[in-house]
Amino acid sequence: MSALAMLGGKKAKGKPFPVWPYYDSNEEHALKEVLESRVWWRTPGTKTLNFERSFAEFHGARHGIAVTNGTAALEVTIAALGITAGDEVIVPNFTFVATASAVLFANALPVLVDVDPDTYCINPDLVEDAINSKTKAIIAVHMGGHPADLDRLKAIAGRKGLALIEDCAHAHASEWRGRRVGTFGVAGTFSFQASKLMTAGEGGMIISNSDKFEVHARSVHDCGRMPGEWFYSHFVYGSNYRLSEWQGAILQVQLGRLDQQTKRRHENARLLDRLLREIPGITPQKLDERCTRNGQYAYIFHVNKKVFAGLSTERFIEAMNAEGIPNQASYPPLHQLDMFRNGEYRKRLSGKQAKDKHKFLKQKLPATEKAAWETVWLPQPVLLGDEEDMHEIAAALEKIQRSAKEL
Ligand SMILES: Cc1ncc(COP(=O)(O)O)c(C=O)c1O
Repeated sequence: MSALAMLGGKKAKGKPFPVWPYYDSNEEHALKEVLESRVWWRTPGTKTLNFERSFAEFHGARHGIAVTNGTAALEVTIAALGITAGDEVIVPNFTFVATASAVLFANALPVLVDVDPDTYCINPDLVEDAINSKTKAIIAVHMGGHPADLDRLKAIAGRKGLALIEDCAHAHASEWRGRRVGTFGVAGTFSFQASKLMTAGEGGMIISNSDKFEVHARSVHDCGRMPGEWFYSHFVYGSNYRLSEWQGAILQVQLGRLDQQTKRRHENARLLDRLLREIPGITPQKLDERCTRNGQYAYIFHVNKKVFAGLSTERFIEAMNAEGIPNQASYPPLHQLDMFRNGEYRKRLSGKQAKDKHKFLKQKLPATEKAAWETVWLPQPVLLGDEEDMHEIAAALEKIQRSAKEL
């Protein structure tokens, strides 16, 4: 009989991985407190306000604005920067759709550029090439928790007078040269959706060190109101992006664990780097030496099919799951999403921009193709396990590599 669990063999994984989301009596207590206070709404409350302050401080920012989710954090940021119809924003082609759809939401064009073939973060050379007179901002996504090249992106944005936005949906507590991400540009946006590094089911945050930006963003997130003004004054276009007190209360507790959990995820990921490099055909996402801590929303590795008897990524993932190792496929390239292929995205644009041929849809984006179709992700809760768990992951991979031709 084959040793592979998928073919009836024994699973490589013994004890289960830690469950996610993690909670204890602190979350229960925090929720009960909100319940009994009868203050469930953010506006008169203190829980979300306090969480905004703590989260911003944790990331070295002067301001934090809690919002309903990570997509909303991007939408509010883009609106607060005044980005609008006719403008362009440079976005990596390899990311979750929200990074680009938030730009379309503002009726602006997301210009999709390829990523670095080793870190899978936006390629600064290609960012430079994509800049023109319509460009207003660059969105850097810290893929899987690994910061994009913030030295180069900050320099480019500074030289060209563009806003740099960090999409930190994967990167709570990640560090670049010893400094936490989120304040290298004008704003950093975060998600607290269920799979993220800390969660309230849904939720988001914008952090910034710019007082001017904060005033705009806070107003946009609260129906265009201004602090201290009459409740029914609406000074700018805005919407209701406010986070509830329930979520603020839970997230405050989750934040209290983030540093310890990040340490564990980062250290386990480095152990996996060492173990997985020994397995033929497996290449972990590169860790740039300037990334002093990776928040590790995911552990990403490339699988060279040739060394795995031509095994498809889908079949590889099934085999890993059968061994008891949760793992998943990557994001598809954005330019191949239906809305870009069938032209639906143009409905968000106007004038010449809606009719133009958008070059990025026809370009070859080889690093994105590689990242999208040939990498596999271990979700972050796996990295909260112990050393034995990491050895079991490596053992499962070795087993699949050895027996790939049976699959
Ligand atoms: C890179 C990236 N940006 C933005 C988002 C949007 O966050 P949310 O799901 O909270 O709207 C996500 C969510 O998965 C993401 O992965």
